Amino acid sequence: MANPDSHVTIHMAASLDGFIARKDGRVDWIETSDEFAGGDTLDPGFVEAFLKTIDCYVMGSRTYETALRFEKQGFGWSYGDTRTFVLTSRELSRTRDSVEFYSGDLAPLVNGRLRPAFHTIWFVGGGMLSAECLRLGLADEVRYSILPIVIGDGISFFEKLDRDVPLHLMEVKGYTSGTVELRYEVRKDRATSPAT
Ligand SMILES: NC(=O)c1ccc[n+]([C@@H]2O[C@H](COP(=O)([O-])OP(=O)(O)OC[C@H]3O[C@@H](n4cnc5c(N)ncnc54)[C@H](OP(=O)(O)O)[C@@H]3O)[C@@H](O)[C@H]2O)c1
Repeated sequence: MANPDSHVTIHMAASLDGFIARKDGRVDWIETSDEFAGGDTLDPGFVEAFLKTIDCYVMGSRTYETALRFEKQGFGWSYGDTRTFVLTSRELSRTRDSVEFYSGDLAPLVNGRLRPAFHTIWFVGGGMLSAECLRLGLADEVRYSILPIVIGDGISFFEKLDRDVPLHLMEVKGYTSGTVELRYEVRKDRATSPAT
C-alpha cells in the first residue's frame, strides 16, 4: 500500500543541451567556473540540512559505478549513510551496509517497498533509470540543475524516453555559480502519451 505522504523526486545536473554525461560516461565538464552576480548563494549549512531530509536514494548501476570511481579517486561517497538502492541485473560489489541491490520491475520496488517505508525518495540517475521512473509514472517531481555549459553530445537526462510527460513549473532559482535550478511537478491529471 503506497504511503500517501511519500514523495519521489528525480534530480540530476545537466548541460544546457540536456546531457548528464558524455557518451563514454565522463562528467569532467561538471565543475564550471561561471559567475552570475544576480544569483543566490548556496549556504553549505543549508545544503547539509537539506540532504538530511532525504530518506533514501535510488540509482542505476552505471551511476553507482561512477560513484565508486569517484570514491576511489578520493572524492568520497556522496550519499552518506542514507539507504541507497542500486538497480542492476549484475553481481556488483557491495561496499557499504547502506547499499542494497535490486533487479526487476521498478513499480513494485517504488510502490510496494520504498513508498511505505520512506517519506522522501530521491532518484539520482542516470538517464536510463530516470526515464524508466518517469515512463512508469512513478515520479512526483523533477529537479533539473542546468549548468552553464554546452557539450554537444552525451547521455540524455531522460535517455530514450518514448512518451510525452506534461510538467508543472513550481520554482526557478539562479545561483552565483551560473547554475539554474528548475523544479517541476509531474502532472498526474493528464495521462502520458506516446511520442510520435
Ligand atoms: N549529471 C548528473 O547529475 C548525473 C547523475 C547521475 C549519473 N550521471 C552519469 O550518468 C551516467 C550513467 O547513466 P546511464 O543512463 O548510462 O545509466 P544508469 O541509469 O545509471 O544505469 C542504467 C543501468 O541500471 C541497470 N538497471 C536499470 N533499470 C533496471 C532494472 N529495472 N532492473 C535491473 N537493472 C536495472 C541496468 O544495468 P545492469 O547491466 O547492471 O543490469 C542499466 O544498464 C554515468 O556516466 C553517470 O556519471 C550523471
